[in-house]
Amino acid sequence: MIDFKAKIAEELEKVVEIDKKELESYIEVPKDTKNGDYSFPCFKLAKELKKAPQMIADDIKEKINLEGTGIENLEVVGGFLNFFIEKETIAKEVLNEVASKEEYGRSKIGEGKNIVIDYSAPNIAKPFHIGHLRSTVIGGALSNIYKFLGYNVTGINHLGDYGTQFGKLIEGYKLWGDEYDIDKDPINELTKIYIRINNLCKEDEKVLEACRDNFKKLEDGDPYCTELWERFKNVSLKEFQRVYDLLGSKFESLNGEAFYADKMPEVIELLEKSGKLTESQGAKIIDLSDVGIDTPCIIIKSNGSSTYATRDLAAILYRARTYDYDKALYVTSYEQILHFKQIFAVAKYLGLEEKYIKGLKHVSFGMVLLPTGKMSTREGTSIKLEDLLNEAIERAKKVIEQKNHDLEDKEETAKKVGVGAVIFNDLSNNRVKDEIFDWDTILNFQGETGPYIQYMYVRIRSVLEKAGGIPNIADVNVAKLNDTYSQEVLKLIYNFEDTLVAVTEKEEPSILSRYLIDLAKAYSSFYNENKIMVDDKEVQDARVYLSYATAKVLKEGTALLGMEMPNKM
Ligand code: ARG
Repeated sequence: MIDFKAKIAEELEKVVEIDKKELESYIEVPKDTKNGDYSFPCFKLAKELKKAPQMIADDIKEKINLEGTGIENLEVVGGFLNFFIEKETIAKEVLNEVASKEEYGRSKIGEGKNIVIDYSAPNIAKPFHIGHLRSTVIGGALSNIYKFLGYNVTGINHLGDYGTQFGKLIEGYKLWGDEYDIDKDPINELTKIYIRINNLCKEDEKVLEACRDNFKKLEDGDPYCTELWERFKNVSLKEFQRVYDLLGSKFESLNGEAFYADKMPEVIELLEKSGKLTESQGAKIIDLSDVGIDTPCIIIKSNGSSTYATRDLAAILYRARTYDYDKALYVTSYEQILHFKQIFAVAKYLGLEEKYIKGLKHVSFGMVLLPTGKMSTREGTSIKLEDLLNEAIERAKKVIEQKNHDLEDKEETAKKVGVGAVIFNDLSNNRVKDEIFDWDTILNFQGETGPYIQYMYVRIRSVLEKAGGIPNIADVNVAKLNDTYSQEVLKLIYNFEDTLVAVTEKEEPSILSRYLIDLAKAYSSFYNENKIMVDDKEVQDARVYLSYATAKVLKEGTALLGMEMPNKM
């Protein structure tokens, strides 16, 4: 497809003699199409050219040659140059691209670049709760999008399978193991033990000490502790898998925290060598006050056991060497901001190449709030994600039954709609915002929701069916798509790849969710304003083809978010 932005920048370069890459970076897509399809803010050049923006704009307008660029009109408004794309050119570009590509928008811009995404990462023997949903869904969407753009992606489920909590579980099991039926309902039963032992720890310092010792023993390879740990891990993974199956999540690696157990001594050695490791009340720490972080990073606790941070440092070393990453993303809630600040700061003392330090990025997100407030495993108030997804499916089924009672494969459709609704909701707002989980909003077919997009897609499919299939692109007369509504849809489709690139620049999948809502709405207006089945065969074919292109992008886009499209609903 023609890259209109690049074309404009090329022509601007000839007039103002400033590098076209720089010029291109200033070009905006105006919110209101009255201001053109692209806009160039001339004040960006005012300093360099020592002229008022308005004068720069007038000057450029006079000198620029837009012939053959696909731009049909240029207006000066204030200090802005507003460019308007030729209607037929955009229609031709977009529809031909859709026709010629199996997957519209797939690209190779990321070729040769390695992205590591650390996400999901639930904790063994604790419920997979709604808080982990966000990590799984955001990380999964990012992974799909990076892959679609040609990057080499390694998705890692950094399972919480190590740490003091296992010392606690082992202690609880020792004390009351025979009171609980772990094989029947593993995570529930283990959670009960965990809550009970935690309460005991709060009352009795000695019990807490015993728990810490258990973990130390586990690290030292004690057979009893190791066997129990393995059992807890296996039963938990089996349960997690049910959630991953529902969500369609797949990981390239399941190396959890325990994987790094034998890789920590090197971290400690390197930190010793750096001269930054100091003793403090029997523990070994790195003081970070010189880089503006008040809380020191604990590397070895006073009883000699490792920490969450030590394991993450070992993981950075391992990932740099194994995956040679350009970016290493960590998708967790903002509660861990300090943790990642600390380990990224300490990572500088591991002697890694600068590129690996630069590539580290915490992709934080807000909490999921229930109408009743925050959730915590320790107090036992968390909702299990599996229950939540199943409830979504049940609720979707009820809505579908009301709307389309005779639908075949209701179960399959309810699954796609219910799970899709939860996924979309999770990705529909800026990730750093807290999210309130409310069923009626999520499943509203008329709202800015997953089901709304699915519904629009299903409607387009029935349009295509009524039209008797998709016309041959060679027979499509693009001049029949000059009306505002068609143009609006075309421009959005044109921007699909740019939208995906924007997601990777900010690690923000909501940019794609927003885009899909805009596209579905633009199609809805197009559909309401333009009759599709008309006597004029040329008009009909062009409109049908545009409908087909829209459906294609809606399906690809939602798939990148991790959703599935129903054929009917
Ligand atoms: N298991 C942790 C939790 O549930 C998240 C791990 C995130 N990844 C990491 N490399 N620290 O909070």
